[in-house]
Amino acid sequence: MRAVVLDRFGEPDVLSVGQRPMPRPLPTEIRVKVAAAGVNPIDCKTRAGQGMSPFLGDLPAVLGWDVAGVVDAVGVGVSRFAVGDPVFGMPWFPRQAGGYAEYVTAPSRQFAARPPALNDIQAAALPLAGLTAWQALVDVAKVTEGQRVLIHAAAGGVGHLAVQIAKSLGAYVIGTASAAKHRLLGDLGLDEAVNYQGTRFEQVLDPVDVVLDLIGGDVAVRSLDLLRPDGLLVCLPSKAAADAITAAEERGLRATGMIVEPDGHALDKLADLATDGALRVLVAETFGLDRAADAHRLSEGGRTTGKIVLTV
Ligand SMILES: NC(=O)c1ccc[n+]([C@@H]2O[C@H](COP(=O)([O-])OP(=O)(O)OC[C@H]3O[C@@H](n4cnc5c(N)ncnc54)[C@H](OP(=O)(O)O)[C@@H]3O)[C@@H](O)[C@H]2O)c1
Repeated sequence: MRAVVLDRFGEPDVLSVGQRPMPRPLPTEIRVKVAAAGVNPIDCKTRAGQGMSPFLGDLPAVLGWDVAGVVDAVGVGVSRFAVGDPVFGMPWFPRQAGGYAEYVTAPSRQFAARPPALNDIQAAALPLAGLTAWQALVDVAKVTEGQRVLIHAAAGGVGHLAVQIAKSLGAYVIGTASAAKHRLLGDLGLDEAVNYQGTRFEQVLDPVDVVLDLIGGDVAVRSLDLLRPDGLLVCLPSKAAADAITAAEERGLRATGMIVEPDGHALDKLADLATDGALRVLVAETFGLDRAADAHRLSEGGRTTGKIVLTV
């Protein structure tokens, strides 16, 4: 099968299309004929030899965790899906899933049925970013109605989904983004936008219950100025979390890191939100498999609105 092969860590041009063996589903696994594969910042960090690179195994490897497509074979014991079902998921994370490829094989319960409200490209854009937002807001921060939630990088892949999930939980949602993105964020339901370019958000906002920090560094530390005494800062860039936790502890505040996990049930919840019209998945740009390097360059620019997707 065709796949984007990584045979050494490095710059985006280490990615090239090659041939890999066709995977076979073990008992309880499905094989998905991939229509589209989402691109995430963690893919780029891993390609560069950071991120999840220690868990890839021997090179050559195939990057990519987000996939959408059709079930093409089922192993013994699979009860949730049959051949021909449209599915989407983020299997195997943080192990190698091989999403940038024509076929992926993984445990069936790490997938969900793709709802008609989402096409393959939108469904491939959703899992990793959507599960991150869901697990951070619902499982970790336990956001409740009426709470004030601040989301940094609200227009990005995780951020734009987090805004809508927080709204669906009944929160008052504030986001940081450059000014050109404020109207779009308002359309997604954001209650209050701050242009982080030229405004110090901690000086203009009232206290919040939850901060979802997708930037790290001084953004995480400055966010503590806004945190209510019983509030929680969830810091997503893994390298930044330890410093944020230390800074919070010094001030008697709470901060935590988090790493997203495969979760078929949470994917079902995200699919329900999309079906109800409460979750729009924005796709900034799509690329063919042969342009995976361009997709990584765009992601590393750090300015995209919504998600980047490879079509297979
Ligand atoms: N721990 C985990 O499990 C986990 C899971 C998912 C993601 N993450 C991490 O979370 C981070 C965000 O991921 P993502 O997929 O959402 O990234 P992304 O889509 O690449 O984010 C791009 C967005 O960031 C905004 N941005 C850049 N600098 C900003 C700043 N200083 N303040 C506010 N917004 C800013 C940009 O908006 P403007 O153009 O307006 O600047 C752009 O819309 C990455 O570091 C990623 O690795 C961690």
